[in-house]
Amino acid sequence: MKTGCCLSEHQCKIGVLVSGRGTNLQSLIDASREGRMAAEVSVVVSNRANAPALDRAKKAGIPGFVVNAVKGETKEAFEKQIGEIFNRHGVNLVVLAGFMRIVSPWLISRFKNRIINIHPALLPSFPGLSAQKQALEYGVRLSGCTVHFVDEGCDTGPIILQTAVPVLDTDTVESLSERILKEEHKLLPKAVDLLAKNKVKVTGRRVEILP
Ligand code: GRF
Repeated sequence: MKTGCCLSEHQCKIGVLVSGRGTNLQSLIDASREGRMAAEVSVVVSNRANAPALDRAKKAGIPGFVVNAVKGETKEAFEKQIGEIFNRHGVNLVVLAGFMRIVSPWLISRFKNRIINIHPALLPSFPGLSAQKQALEYGVRLSGCTVHFVDEGCDTGPIILQTAVPVLDTDTVESLSERILKEEHKLLPKAVDLLAKNKVKVTGRRVEILP
């Protein structure tokens, strides 16, 4: 099965889910506008009204929305609002770029194999929060970043691309995070570009990058 995000005759339109500062969002906007990625950021949705990522979207002239999780409301109801925004903007690939919520099976099935996430560690090592701190405390000599498909687990979906960076004796969480982040900004647009060009084939857990 070939799992490109977009049929080749359609443009790849990304919906980006964010919660924070949005440097990965910025890397997607820049790569698209500089012609390094065959996809455009169509809409940005944040679950936090004060996320600096929304300012980046605004500055780039990209529509940004805040969707609040209401207490007592189901995750599905929350995500249906996101789904509607994505529908209105013709989104055919969803990118989680620092989105601090686990997405539910509803959104995952709505965008089957078309939701990806960037994680600041070499999965399956150090999933979840504070991945860089986990790596430092474990004492690994290499860490890095991973772009993977999102499934029902926490950072468990099939791996698309990874980049390794060294962990130095002198590293702090900040210095390691910075080294990894630089690579994230290259890896995420690269993964989106491959998906947009239908060059990603998924068979079970195995992902093949086609020439
Ligand atoms: C990145 O480190 C990403 O890997 C993780 O959350 C962070 C988001 O950073 N999922 P930013 O908001 O893109 O700057």
